[in-house]
Amino acid sequence: MSSMERIDENLAYKVKDIELAELGRRDIRLAEHEMPGLMELREKYGKEQPLKGVRIMGSLHMTTQTAVLIETLKSLGADVRWASCNIFSTQDEAAAAIAVTGVPVFAWKGETLDEYWWCTAQALSFPGGKGPELIVDDGGDATMMVLKGLQAEKDPSHLDVDAEAWDEIALLKRLKLIREQDNNKWHRVVEDLQGVSEETTTGVHRLYQLAKEDALPFPAINVNDSVTKSKFDNNYGNRESLIDGIKRATDVMIAGKTAVVCGFGGVGKGCAQGLAAMGAKVVITEIDPICALQAAMEGFEVKTIEEVLDRGDIYVTATGNRDVITVEHMRNMKDKAIVCNIGHFDNEIQVEKLEVEKDVEKIEIKPQVHEFVFGEGHSIILLAEGRLVNLGCATGHSSFVMSNSFANQVLAQIDLWKNKREPGVYMLPKKLDEEVALAHLNHLGVSLTKLNDAQSKYLGIPVEGPYKSHHYRY
Ligand code: NAD
Ligand code: ADE
Repeated sequence: MSSMERIDENLAYKVKDIELAELGRRDIRLAEHEMPGLMELREKYGKEQPLKGVRIMGSLHMTTQTAVLIETLKSLGADVRWASCNIFSTQDEAAAAIAVTGVPVFAWKGETLDEYWWCTAQALSFPGGKGPELIVDDGGDATMMVLKGLQAEKDPSHLDVDAEAWDEIALLKRLKLIREQDNNKWHRVVEDLQGVSEETTTGVHRLYQLAKEDALPFPAINVNDSVTKSKFDNNYGNRESLIDGIKRATDVMIAGKTAVVCGFGGVGKGCAQGLAAMGAKVVITEIDPICALQAAMEGFEVKTIEEVLDRGDIYVTATGNRDVITVEHMRNMKDKAIVCNIGHFDNEIQVEKLEVEKDVEKIEIKPQVHEFVFGEGHSIILLAEGRLVNLGCATGHSSFVMSNSFANQVLAQIDLWKNKREPGVYMLPKKLDEEVALAHLNHLGVSLTKLNDAQSKYLGIPVEGPYKSHHYRY
């Protein structure tokens, strides 16, 4: 086996260019200032070391903000290894800055799918043939690798299924190589694994599905549905980082354009607001009548995608669903329409199918920006090859909003380690959600009103909370 084919638990790291470390460190220093939640957790738990010696593997975009998360976990005592959860989302300078501190990082911007799964397996492989005791997952790929690996050790025929998606083909190939090297690896991993904390909506869907099928052998914490995660990162984060991605990729003027946002959930709401704030005319597509009504009440047109193909200039998918924009849709779009996705996976837009269409020519404008020219002459501009545009074409959400998400991640990791739980999917208590919010108020100069005793009695809420707002659900 060549070096890229073997899993080498003693390899120190693999990043694009270790010389970028100093640049990455300067970015990290600025990010720390904008991440008060994580800095407060370092302060609060630094002495106690609640994660002392705990082996933590992360599969989450290797950005500057993630670097601050990694160093927070380290400061609480953890032994951390990391890979990105997307082939385009790594900030090479952040990866280098973390690698020089001795954390094994396996991530670079522009991995192939084969390299992606190698990186994930490397991060899952601690010295001494050990696996992680905890996983920080984003989208569920690390969890899936462990569970599919385990399944294949029990019955190798699982590796011979006819996979269609390129991603899955690459995963099965990697798992076969791992089996040749070590055919008991995943049994050992699952034996030591005490839990997973999951970052995103799509990963959480996967976890509930696994739990329903009785196929989740360890506990998991749903970080996404903490209010200070999904109502902030998914909404306010994307409100800014979608625009950042489109602008860096195309420099297109958004004002005056017709932008079609598919999905009006947490992410779609943020995207629609961001585009509208730039002066776009925003049209929403939805399958859920409540979300469709919400969009209408916010003043957006709600149509089917077929109804807007003749006028959409920019298309954004934010559904967590598949085949939302088909090749047929792209064939019927306006010339030079911009098409991108901000949902977790790459199958919201039919890119794999588009890539093999006989009459379509692909022209690289620059990495992560491609023009697809159809036989009859019109073309569309596809961003980040249909993967998360904010992380593929820009650097993801800003530090401040990620501080909220990642404070939840740290609390989830501590919780999973402290409390032995049965397999299943759990949420952090509301009180901790409120503590995450509290940790971010000072930074914005917020003065919070205190409940007095009479008001506390009147509402039936303890003075110190948890409070009971009903406004979080949509
Ligand atoms: P959500 O469930 O709140 O919203 C998805 C919406 O899409 C729902 O309202 C649903 O009804 C709608 N939908 C589903 N199928 C549709 C279809 N065919 N056409 C139109 N609408 C459809 O989920 P969310 O929290 O908004 O997350 C959406 C995706 O974004 C997920 O994959 C999530 O993991 C990802 N995400 C990405 C980022 C990022 O930084 N890029 C951040 C957070 C979440
Ligand atoms: N998800 C969205 N933005 C991100 C960021 N900046 N870092 C890590 N994960 C993210």
